[in-house]
Amino acid sequence: MSGWQAHFITLFPEMFPGSLGKSLTGRALDNGVWHYITHNLRDFGEGRHKNVDDTPSGGGPSMVLRADIAGAAIDAVRVDAPDLPLVLPSPRGEVLTQSSVRELADGNGVIFLCNRFEGVDERIIEAYDVREVSIGDYILSGGEPAALVMVDAILRLLPGVIGDAASHDEESFANGLLEYPQYTRPAIWRGRSIPEALTSGDHARVAGWRATTSAALTKARRPDLWAARCDDKKPKKLSEKAKKPSEKERPPEKR
Ligand code: ADE
Repeated sequence: MSGWQAHFITLFPEMFPGSLGKSLTGRALDNGVWHYITHNLRDFGEGRHKNVDDTPSGGGPSMVLRADIAGAAIDAVRVDAPDLPLVLPSPRGEVLTQSSVRELADGNGVIFLCNRFEGVDERIIEAYDVREVSIGDYILSGGEPAALVMVDAILRLLPGVIGDAASHDEESFANGLLEYPQYTRPAIWRGRSIPEALTSGDHARVAGWRATTSAALTKARRPDLWAARCDDKKPKKLSEKAKKPSEKERPPEKR
């Protein structure tokens, strides 16, 4: 199998490819740009009921995915995919951004450990250097929908998935700004017209309108993004720029 690979360790393999099997990502799947493999966590379960979870040490209402079960599943996947990063979709993880999506798209694939319980035994996270990733500050019923979202965001950055590669540059977040509004025919709809700059045929005016609107939208809706962008553009203090790395930070000298 070729292309970027997604491994999903899950109790619900039938949730995949889900939306990824349709439209652009579905076509890319058919064309071998990427492929996916599901690994049923239940196959690694214990006893007659193939249990994979147990009550939390110290007590509590929910269940925890057992370290021995998750570890056996990860080891089995790693036999054929030893170098792929292991991602645990989790509301307590780093929040997914366009730059982390880009980083994952630049690799060969990802193994997702999709959880359905209160959590995974913490020793799994330590032992396997798991990257915990959240898709936002809200709680889903499991990791599968989050993994689908992450893979969707990754796949559209792979060569051959979106026809016009230039459209990546125009999008929200690629340049730290939200995208400007779009319009198309008819010229007037229910009494609403298209901003005059966009129909002027003057490329400089169009570009100016888009830049101004994009900045205004970002300021109004995402002051956090606007502040980060202004910060990036500020000239750095000499003391920050010229700071020499400490002995520990400096890479070892080549011999
Ligand atoms: N699992 C449950 N909620 C989640 C979230 N917000 N992000 C990623 N994984 C999750």
